[in-house]
Parts: sequence; structure tokens; C-alpha cells
Amino acid sequence: MTTSSRLNIGAVRYSFAPWEDPAARPLIRFDGVVKRFGDDVAVNGISLDIYEKEFFALLGPSGCGKTTLMRMLAGFETPDAGTITLEGEDILDKPAHRRPVNMMFQSYALFPHLNVEQNIAFGLKHLPGEERKDRVLDMLALVRLEGLARRKPDQLSGGQRQRVALARAIAPRPRLLLLDEPLAALDKKLRDETQFELVALQERLGMTFMVVTHDQEEAMVMSTRVAVMDKGQIVQVGRPAEVYETPNSRYVADFIGEVNLFEARVTQAGSGTLKLTGGNCPAGYEVREDTPIPPGTAVWLAVRPEKIQVTQDRPPAGANGMAGKVADIGYLGDWTTYLVTVPGGMTVRAARANAARIVERPIDWDDEVWLTFSPDAAVVLTS
Ligand SMILES: Nc1ncnc2c1ncn2[C@@H]1O[C@H](COP(=O)(O)OP(=O)(O)OP(=O)(O)O)[C@@H](O)[C@H]1O
Ligand SMILES: [Mg+2]
Repeated sequence: MTTSSRLNIGAVRYSFAPWEDPAARPLIRFDGVVKRFGDDVAVNGISLDIYEKEFFALLGPSGCGKTTLMRMLAGFETPDAGTITLEGEDILDKPAHRRPVNMMFQSYALFPHLNVEQNIAFGLKHLPGEERKDRVLDMLALVRLEGLARRKPDQLSGGQRQRVALARAIAPRPRLLLLDEPLAALDKKLRDETQFELVALQERLGMTFMVVTHDQEEAMVMSTRVAVMDKGQIVQVGRPAEVYETPNSRYVADFIGEVNLFEARVTQAGSGTLKLTGGNCPAGYEVREDTPIPPGTAVWLAVRPEKIQVTQDRPPAGANGMAGKVADIGYLGDWTTYLVTVPGGMTVRAARANAARIVERPIDWDDEVWLTFSPDAAVVLTS
């Protein structure tokens, strides 16, 4: 099955939300966890609950502490402060092999002298022979390596090796599986397919997954919740759609997906609507916003490219509209991206779904166009 991940943002198990149930107990609780390496604070006071059967994604730039957080959970690092509990029980005194946690490392290491099926069977010594065989066959099918069971790691491509490592990590069915960039070496098509299969597998086995990824689309497609990290801290946690549609800062808005940030100042607030002025829209903006923000406050309007319309017709008075000139057009097949320069020099990104087949380009380079967005398309950010 190949489906564009754009179709699935936030669609994964929408009714599953133990974190909204005050009676639900987390499987894992990080409480005030700190980890330093010399003067470097890799993890800077993280408190986080993860629930049974979650598919929890950690997102953040390189060096923000994702792997370190996972390594502390798996038992390969010890926090300098804070606690980590599993079902309320402190696990920090337990060595790695006594925690019901398995981790697939970012630099997955296969045993070079063992073939694919032996690598996968490595953690299954406790199972009776037949069951172990079946389990290995299951795993080979999952990662589509049925034909390569007898190969050694050095006879595999990087993507194939990564799939063996994934199969080996899942095979013992740990209660909690930590996956550090599990799909990074796969090509786009295989990655898309494996994402859905991982979710199906995780649901079938009732395991809890925590995954690190650089690919925000991957996090969106697979996870029940996403945590966005910055410099050792978690800056926002929520369902993929929550984090995408209501980011709490410019950092998050910019990290998850593409965003246009317009500088503006509140002129009038009340009854769910803000009026603002801003250089890009001389007539002023109107935005739906429930949190009252006092007039005079400097803010940013965050507007996603797909929420900005590009038209040749002048919008009606009072609309959030700005004139501009098309500087660049990127045709992506399913989408077309327009880069439009507006007065003041800012380049605004607008994206349009190519719902109909495009025979003639409706809007061309250097065209004078109008950009508009509806009052509920913008998120008002103060930081
Ligand atoms: N064993 C170590 N000794 C010293 N510093 C370390 C060690 N492990 C991690 N660090 C530092 O801690 C910080 C966080 O590292 P970490 O590996 O957790 O980042 P990450 O978010 O996983 O990044 P990436 O996306 O690049 O894998 C970095 O500044 C890193 O250099
Ligand atoms: Mg890492």
C-alpha cells in the first residue's frame, strides 16, 4: 500500500487518547530527567508520560538530546537528576537487560558472522524451536527479506541491513521498543510502506513504540503523539494534527512543516477575533483567536502554505489579502508551490493541491497575484 502521507496527518487511531484520561496511568514516566556530558547538558529537565500502546515520536534537530533520552530509558546511560518509572516503579537501578525495553540503535550493528535469519533469531533463544522459526519467518515477511534469509550482512545493501536490524529489535516483542531513526536508510517508497506496516504491527502486537525520526512526515503518519525537542527540552507534545495546526511557538511552527511568519501588532481584541496591523497587509489582518491578547502586543502570524490561496483576482475589501509577484514555481506532481514576493521583500510560500490535471499553467512566473488566507487559517504566536 502506498498512500501519500499528507492524507494521513493525525489520522492514526484518533480515538486513542489515554493522556486525556485523568485515571489512566502512564507506562513510562520521565520526571525532571537531566543528563550532562561534561559541561554539555544533553537532556535538560524532561518530564514526560508515555502510555501503553502509544506510538510516540521524538522530533528535533541534531544534537537536541533524542538519543540520550532513549538511552537512559533503555539503561545505557544514567541520568544526573530525575527519575524514570515503569508502571510507577523506578527502573533506574535495573540494568539494561532486566528492563522490558529493547532499543534499535541509530547505528544498528548486526552480527557480521551471522546470516539474516540468525541475526533476527538472536534474541529468541528462550522460545521453543518451532515458535522461533515461525517468529523469524514472520519478521522476514514484515521487512520483505524472505529471499535473503541466508545472506550475511556484508552481502546486503544499507537499506536491507536496516530492515534486518528492525526485524531483530521487534522479534522478541519487548513491551517497549525504542527505535532510533529506524527507517532512515530506506528509499522513499519502501519507507512509506514500512511506516504503515510498523503501525499495523504495533497495533497487532499491542507493543508500545517510541521512535526518533528526522522526518516529520514520518512522525505524523505513524505516531499517536509527537514531542518536539529543542536543546535538551521538550517544547511541545501533542497529536500530530495538534502540533501541526496549533504550534505553540515559532520554533515548533517552523520545525514541523513549512510556515510563513508575518510580523504583526494587535490593534483590537475581543469576542474571539483579533485585528492586527502588519507591513505585509496594509489593510490589516483579522484572525480568529480565542486567547485575548492585549492591543499593542507584537505577535507573529503563522500561516501554512496550503492555507494561502494564490489568485489573480483582487480579494474583497476586509479579506486578509496582500499583493505580490510570483518569483518561483515548484511543480511537485501532487502539489504546486508558489514563492511570491510581497512589498517589503518577504517571500511568501503558498501551496496548491493539483486536484485537476494541469495542462496549462494557470499562474506563471512574474505574474502579479493576490495572496489571501481566511481568519481561521492563521495561528497567533507571541514567542
Ligand atoms: N557519550 C557522550 N559524550 C559526550 N557528549 C555526548 C555523548 N552522547 C551525546 N553527547 C552530546 O549530547 C548532546 C545530545 O546528543 P544526542 O545524541 O542525544 O542527540 P540527538 O538528538 O540524538 O542528535 P541526532 O539527531 O544527531 O542523532 C549532543 O551535544 C552530543 O554531542
Ligand atoms: Mg540521535
